[in-house]
Amino acid sequence: MTVLYTILLTLHNLNRWLVLLTGLWTLLRSVPGLTTGRAFKPADRRPVVAFAGTVHLQLVLGLLLFALLGMQNIPVFAGAPRPSFQWEHLGLGVLAAVFATLATALSKRATTHHARFRSMALWTALSLLTALVGIPWWRPLLRFFNL
Ligand code: HEM
Repeated sequence: MTVLYTILLTLHNLNRWLVLLTGLWTLLRSVPGLTTGRAFKPADRRPVVAFAGTVHLQLVLGLLLFALLGMQNIPVFAGAPRPSFQWEHLGLGVLAAVFATLATALSKRATTHHARFRSMALWTALSLLTALVGIPWWRPLLRFFNL
């Protein structure tokens, strides 16, 4: 395997935790806002912007990995429980990115405080769920370049 593959795979592995943490942060910030009815402050956008950023970075790293493996005729997710897993992973990853985009875009455009919290919570929850289902949990939980 090439050095580039190891670098991209390690970044993709570690960034997965940033995706999950920023997603959780977004939910912890938006769900209480829905129930308490408090005003939406500019700082409330920080977690959802960070979440969308990490998910988009994950998409770019994933596409680069797919291209790199494809160019070298190396099977993607060799040893997966089913051959279709590579396409499920790609599809769910893209869907997670679409939902994360909707979480930032729609919460920005919403006209009431409640609607802002609601679109942030709803689309982030869907994005997180999609990402969680698509993660190959049998692969290493952490990876540090040399492994
Ligand atoms: C939120 C979205 C995503 C998450 C959380 C995620 C997570 C992961 C994780 C945890 C791994 C295993 C890393 C390791 O073995 O150390 C992985 C591998 C991989 N992912 Fe993703 N991924 C996402 C989206 C994508 C997308 C959109 C693509 C492609 C367009 C992609 C392509 C790949 C590829 C090619 C591999 C390596 C497969 C191999 O080594 O055989 N991922 N992903």
